[in-house]
Amino acid sequence: MHTGARMPNVVIVGTGMVGTSIAYALIMKGLVQNLGLINRSPEKAEGEAMDLKHCLPFVSPVNIRAGGFELCKDAQVVVVTAGATQAEGETRLDLCGKNARIIKGIVQDILEYNPAPIILVVTNPVDVLTYVALRESGLPPERVIGSGTVLDTARFRSLVAEHCSLDTRNTHGYVIGEHGDSEVLVWSRLNIAGVLMNDYCGQACTRECPDDFRGDIDDNVRNAAYEIIKKKGATYYAVALAVVSILETVLKNHRSVLTVSSLMQGQYGISNVCLSLPSLLGSRGVENVLDSPLADNETHALRESARVLRETLESIGY
Ligand SMILES: NC(=O)c1ccc[n+]([C@@H]2O[C@H](COP(=O)([O-])OP(=O)(O)OC[C@H]3O[C@@H](n4cnc5c(N)ncnc54)[C@H](O)[C@@H]3O)[C@@H](O)[C@H]2O)c1
Repeated sequence: MHTGARMPNVVIVGTGMVGTSIAYALIMKGLVQNLGLINRSPEKAEGEAMDLKHCLPFVSPVNIRAGGFELCKDAQVVVVTAGATQAEGETRLDLCGKNARIIKGIVQDILEYNPAPIILVVTNPVDVLTYVALRESGLPPERVIGSGTVLDTARFRSLVAEHCSLDTRNTHGYVIGEHGDSEVLVWSRLNIAGVLMNDYCGQACTRECPDDFRGDIDDNVRNAAYEIIKKKGATYYAVALAVVSILETVLKNHRSVLTVSSLMQGQYGISNVCLSLPSLLGSRGVENVLDSPLADNETHALRESARVLRETLESIGY
């Protein structure tokens, strides 16, 4: 086992479907040397750690431990996937208040052992809870990040690529705003290898596209989680890889641009909420939030998304 003090160290709080999928993906990718697992039920975390340890003959060495918040002591990043699920008769807002209290408690527990980790929030509603984690921790805004619309952006790019029969890696587009109903697909900046989508359609594509293909893709991206939850109860594989791509960027200081959620500080006239914009991410966390030109309707929709988030925050006392 490798326990070198300067090795990257990631702790996952919440070993449900999402947390354990992240742990599994991290191990498969050989990204961490030390991995900590914390859950409200310690037995569950221990069971997951045991199961994951049996992967070790097949992957790069990793030291996997289940335990309490003392595991956060040397953590570079603490990923929070813990949360309650919606109980029968409970509104989304009740759930939001409940998860805000859970996140507040977790943040206090983390800081007791580690004064300056990067906290990566995945629990939903992720933008609201990223803001709660930021305010409750008092950490600098660049160190409190939400997984935001990284997953939605991946869905957008892959659906456009599929529609155009293209390699997804040549398809550049972003989903911004809330990770949820009010998110904004930025069609005006969508480009294929630098060629704006509209120009690409005229230049390189001879297909007849249905008039409403944009609407179909928009619905598909916006409603993907609902659809998957209806069919299989939860979503966890793709979000796990989205989180792993955020972790890889931070741990290896890749300085990649990803649509993580972070505190808005005047971008497009928005402040005092966390939401997603293309953001430069490195070992210090969010190093820059990019302010690219948007179409008027997109700017309007982004501000509306911010308004929805601020309203939710106010309704739970933030
Ligand atoms: N941001 C995204 O893109 C995205 C995508 C999918 C799911 N999610 C969210 O991730 C969260 C987790 O989803 P899941 O499917 O893994 O749920 P889950 O119910 O399987 O797991 C949640 C885990 O958190 C634990 N937990 C609850 N309170 C805790 C506490 N105070 N301390 C430690 N552990 C605690 C529970 O015991 C459980 O094991 C949900 O909020 C879900 O909506 C986010």
